[in-house]
Amino acid sequence: MAEGSLSEAAITHSLGTSFIGQRVIYYPVLASTMEIARLEAQKGASEGTVVVADRQTAGRGRIKRLWLSPEGSIAISIILRPDISCLPYLVMVASLAVVHSIEWATGLEPQIKWPNDVLIGNKKVSGILIENGLRGENVDYSILGIGININLKVSGFPDIAGIATSLSDELGRHVLRLGLVRRLLVEVERLYLAAKQGEPVFEEWRDRLVTLGKRVQLRSGKDTYRGIAQSVKPDGSLILRQPDGRLVEIVAGDILPD
Ligand code: BTN
Repeated sequence: MAEGSLSEAAITHSLGTSFIGQRVIYYPVLASTMEIARLEAQKGASEGTVVVADRQTAGRGRIKRLWLSPEGSIAISIILRPDISCLPYLVMVASLAVVHSIEWATGLEPQIKWPNDVLIGNKKVSGILIENGLRGENVDYSILGIGININLKVSGFPDIAGIATSLSDELGRHVLRLGLVRRLLVEVERLYLAAKQGEPVFEEWRDRLVTLGKRVQLRSGKDTYRGIAQSVKPDGSLILRQPDGRLVEIVAGDILPD
């Protein structure tokens, strides 16, 4: 096995979690880990089942965008079965888990752009997509989709070259993907369990947001807002102070590039 190469056994062996990553489904290449994870969840896969791929041919981003997943990146979808009260915390769990595992693996200091993009030096290194399946008023499953640019030369991808970075571009060296993936799963489990108690996860996520205090332009559905990102609420929504002084609460949206 090449150094850092992925396999189901390499990821699960002595992982030290109680449920996240205890079952891993690995693909060298697939369309999207979200699709396979959804099918697995609908077939009854247990909480913590992970679908991981080296490369995706139709990676999905937020707001129906495409997510580029070439060789050297990593694509992961984790099946959860949370209580509905826990849903707002999943963006916090996922983004903090990415931040902690990158810090652990590289010593770099990533930041979070509301709600859950992970940045290094103002460039995106990781994206997170959460899809939920509801059954009546309950959550049947939630899938945490996490993509990280690990070992790739972003300059070779003109579509993202100006706005994205990778760990290897930042460090000028290769990063072992296996260790990073294993740490990510450990962190997801730890934070997910903490999230069931709410506050500690919210406070750390809020304190890591690079967005607060900044003048931003934001798209939410068909609406565009401008203003100063003033604060966030424990349910994850953003409070924006608009130029006329009025506050608006944005539940879901996307901060547009400067
Ligand atoms: C975004 O920032 O727009 C979210 C990107 C999410 C990408 C991940 S990669 C693993 C999972 N599979 C997908 O097709 N998308 C998510």
